[in-house]
Amino acid sequence: MTAPYSLQKGKAQSIVETLDNAYLIVRDGLIHEMGPMTDCPPTTDYHVIDATGQYLCPTWCDSHTHLVYAASREREFVMRLQGKSYKEIAEEGGGILNTAKKLQATSEEQLYLSAEKRLQQVISQGTGAIEIKSGYGLTLDSELKMLRVIKKLNDNYPITIKATFLGAHAIPQEYKHDRTKYIDLIINEMLPAVAQDNLAEYCDAFCDEGFFTTAETDRILTAASGYGLKAKIHANELANSGGVQIGIAHNAISLDHLEEIGPEEISLLASSSTIPTLLPSCSFFLGIPYAPARKLLDAGAGVAIATDYNPGTSPSGNIPLLMSLACLKMKLTPQEAFNAITINGACAMELQDTLGSISIGKKANLLLTKSIPSMDYLPYSFGEMNVDMVMLEGEVV
Ligand code: NIG
Ligand code: FE
Repeated sequence: MTAPYSLQKGKAQSIVETLDNAYLIVRDGLIHEMGPMTDCPPTTDYHVIDATGQYLCPTWCDSHTHLVYAASREREFVMRLQGKSYKEIAEEGGGILNTAKKLQATSEEQLYLSAEKRLQQVISQGTGAIEIKSGYGLTLDSELKMLRVIKKLNDNYPITIKATFLGAHAIPQEYKHDRTKYIDLIINEMLPAVAQDNLAEYCDAFCDEGFFTTAETDRILTAASGYGLKAKIHANELANSGGVQIGIAHNAISLDHLEEIGPEEISLLASSSTIPTLLPSCSFFLGIPYAPARKLLDAGAGVAIATDYNPGTSPSGNIPLLMSLACLKMKLTPQEAFNAITINGACAMELQDTLGSISIGKKANLLLTKSIPSMDYLPYSFGEMNVDMVMLEGEVV
């Protein structure tokens, strides 16, 4: 079986290879052997799981989350229902700044305990690899506090976690009239400290209208690269902000959001190695346009899909629900959606050699569905919990 090890692009993204009536052997936390049931060796030495009627899948790879935060924001949810926009709420000190204030006042231990609950929840829904960003600290101490929480989660749980530094998530109130001073703080104090303690692999910036300009993003990513941090960008969520061009110039691993892109950006993304990462639950929750996934795929790009799990724009880490949104709202086929949240999500975290598909030698991060009639049933039965068992590194969790 030649299960994928690289980004599935264009037409290839619509192909999911399956094996009917098969066996799979896990050894030392890895996928050791598999094949048709007729070739299955005697099973006396093994703990056997009978999966009759069920589907065995790789666990989901969620390449964009903000899962560490101090408090939910349902008050802003109600304000939006009453007509305020996300941008208006942010300008009035809500949004990211509201979450940052609460996080700054929360102890590291408390933050860990609340994030741990969310992590356990997404694991039970089938997630086996996840990227988590800082960006709700916005001070040196609180950004480091968030990143230490992410590191501790990674140390204590068998799920694979990648950490991203997002000091450039919003300009704190006290720097509103001197933005450069905050960017200097990111570059001269935060980045060196993050790099010194090896707390992140990627550097992200919210390059969008009302947040960070392309010139500011360029400065930050250039400095980050000097410390070995690779680029990821929150790009083109609120406006066609130039984020795509700056991200590609920085050879970003992924460009995320992309609700506001046009033909020029689509063709740039299709011909670059940077992965367009789309966040349909953010569009669903904010009522903003969905990223043009169909156009990206038809242009030959390979897209990843992620939850963006955060208290303001996507308070859910539920990947099966995301698959339904990707199909219903972005017109992906179930197979395209499946690849978007497995191998392509793994690629957006540079984990394609060890995760994202059922391939011999990869980590045994696997899930079993309940007994379902077909794989298409997963996105079809939106809101239904179809994951029956999750295994991480060979251990059922
Ligand atoms: O990815 N867009 C920027 N950052 C987050 C939202 C953060 C928030 O509102 O708390 C996002 O949607
Ligand atoms: Fe985000």
